[in-house]
Amino acid sequence: MPETTSLFNKIAKHYDSLNTFFSFGMDKIWRKKLVGQIMGSHEILDIATGTAEVAIETVRKLEGARVIGIDPSAEMLSFAKKKCASPEYKDKIELIQGYAEDLPFENDRFDAITIAFGIRNTVNPLQSLNEMRRVLKSGGKVAILEFTIPRNKIFAPIYLFYFKKFLPFIGSFFGSKKEYKYLSDSTSEFPQREKFLELMKEAQLDPQESIELMIGTVIIYTGIKK
Ligand SMILES: C[S@@+](CC[C@H](N)C(=O)[O-])C[C@H]1O[C@@H](n2cnc3c(N)ncnc32)[C@H](O)[C@@H]1O
Repeated sequence: MPETTSLFNKIAKHYDSLNTFFSFGMDKIWRKKLVGQIMGSHEILDIATGTAEVAIETVRKLEGARVIGIDPSAEMLSFAKKKCASPEYKDKIELIQGYAEDLPFENDRFDAITIAFGIRNTVNPLQSLNEMRRVLKSGGKVAILEFTIPRNKIFAPIYLFYFKKFLPFIGSFFGSKKEYKYLSDSTSEFPQREKFLELMKEAQLDPQESIELMIGTVIIYTGIKK
């Protein structure tokens, strides 16, 4: 499967700190909002879990929740495992290596699925959404956090400059210019808003409310398996 795994292996070491820097610390708030969409769920799958930020936020916020975090990048998972080794999380979070397009779980297993800044990195987003529907219980919810290009005509060019020029420039100080360029390019190339909702419908995930954050630069899509 062609993939971005080697890219994430390379940037894993600075991933959390650069995220916080680039988002002015807002990334943590966005993940909290994401987790807020799946309140009341117990068995949760966090796809593209990376360094387990969403998995950790989930077990902090949702009483009795158990999370399986899945990601293909060994390096991202190795940082995740260190964070999740504390007694607070040890029995509540399980981390495994794998792809969104081929989830190693039986049908109808999870109450909810989260994926933060991950769907656009999958090789086949539709197949990933189909897999999410397969492993969700009937009535289960998927919550997807992703970057978007803002619609505001004045703000959009400023944002695009920041995303396409500034991110790779700062990334270059960490030997990751190419990687951060990919991360920003992949955002503008990925289906946005209505187009993404079409993909969700095609995967038979009934779209619910979409929540735009940070002047429309970040979005949370939610959907239900009927
Ligand atoms: C931008 S990071 C997001 C990590 C984390 N969810 C967060 O909120 O910070 C994207 C993650 O997607 C993972 N990824 C790449 N291709 C994937 C695939 N096909 N299936 C699942 N995860 C994938 C990468 O390894 C990486 O950890």
